[in-house]
Amino acid sequence: MKEKLKAIRQEAIAKIEEAKDLEALNEIKVSVLGKKGALTQVLKSMKDVAPEERPRVGQMVNDTRTAIEEQLEKVQKEIAKRLREEKMKKEVIDVTLPGKRHMKGHRHPNQIALEDLERVFIGMGYEIVEGPEVEYDHYNFELLNIPANHPAKDEQDTFYITKDILLRTQTSPVQARVMETGRMPIRIIAPGRVFRSDEVDATHSPSFHQVEGLVVDKNITFADLKGTLEQFAREFFGPETKIKLRPHHFPFTEPSAEVDVSCFKCGGKGCRMCKGSGWIEILGCGMVHPKVLKDCGIDPEEYSGFAFGIGLERVALLKYEIDDMRLLYENDMRFLRQF
Ligand code: DAH
Repeated sequence: MKEKLKAIRQEAIAKIEEAKDLEALNEIKVSVLGKKGALTQVLKSMKDVAPEERPRVGQMVNDTRTAIEEQLEKVQKEIAKRLREEKMKKEVIDVTLPGKRHMKGHRHPNQIALEDLERVFIGMGYEIVEGPEVEYDHYNFELLNIPANHPAKDEQDTFYITKDILLRTQTSPVQARVMETGRMPIRIIAPGRVFRSDEVDATHSPSFHQVEGLVVDKNITFADLKGTLEQFAREFFGPETKIKLRPHHFPFTEPSAEVDVSCFKCGGKGCRMCKGSGWIEILGCGMVHPKVLKDCGIDPEEYSGFAFGIGLERVALLKYEIDDMRLLYENDMRFLRQF
């Protein structure tokens, strides 16, 4: 028994000395001290030892176990230390290496144009409001004096959800929503997405953006509208920009006009940008129709107002001289990075 224990001890210690890593150590531990390990086997055969011998043999088994355990622990510490040192050596950081360049996100040209535009109107004391993209027929058409038989109401132009609910075709319904609140005076712009059942091409998309403007107060005149748009054009397109109003028709304004700005590329001489005319159309506008004021709960005898609607993509394309609207939606990084 004594010999056997000595052999187990020597063999175990020799193996432990040779162990290269923690797994090898663990294997040795299991093979000696584990449930089926060599030392455990010896313990099991204690019953064959004469009773008076048992305390002595038991002591020897314990000594062997302790010696092996101490050796295991010692070598385990050495291995752990070595591994840590190796790891530290590998993980040296060279602080003199150049840093990695991170890709920075930035604003979409539409967003840049919108923020520029908002800044101009905020500077003139306007408030920015928003309305829902899913809208009632009532706000999108009816309150805006757009009659039932108007071509804009055709299914070919409007995405209907139900008979009375649709995707707004313009931001003008926000006008009606704001007027309805009855808070006076009104001086707002309402940017947002609009939807029309259009085929995609260089100048059309089923979804694009508009910026609506509305001012209602006592004694608001067409001259106020003109002055406001002039100011906008100069700040947005450049100080030399002129505007020209052409008579037009919108159901919710009377009188109505379309507005051209002098071509900021050629200064009005005529170029590719303005198709030779020197002028570029940018928006629709007019004096809020008395019927619209009345239907929205405002007394047209007391108050008057003007409104305008700007195509956001249109001014973004012009400002950045982009000739195809599809580029704004495709999110091609090679394109977007240029802004
Ligand atoms: N809502 C019109 C459109 O989508 C644009 C417009 C024209 C808005 C004249 C206005 C306006 O507020 O006064 O074509």
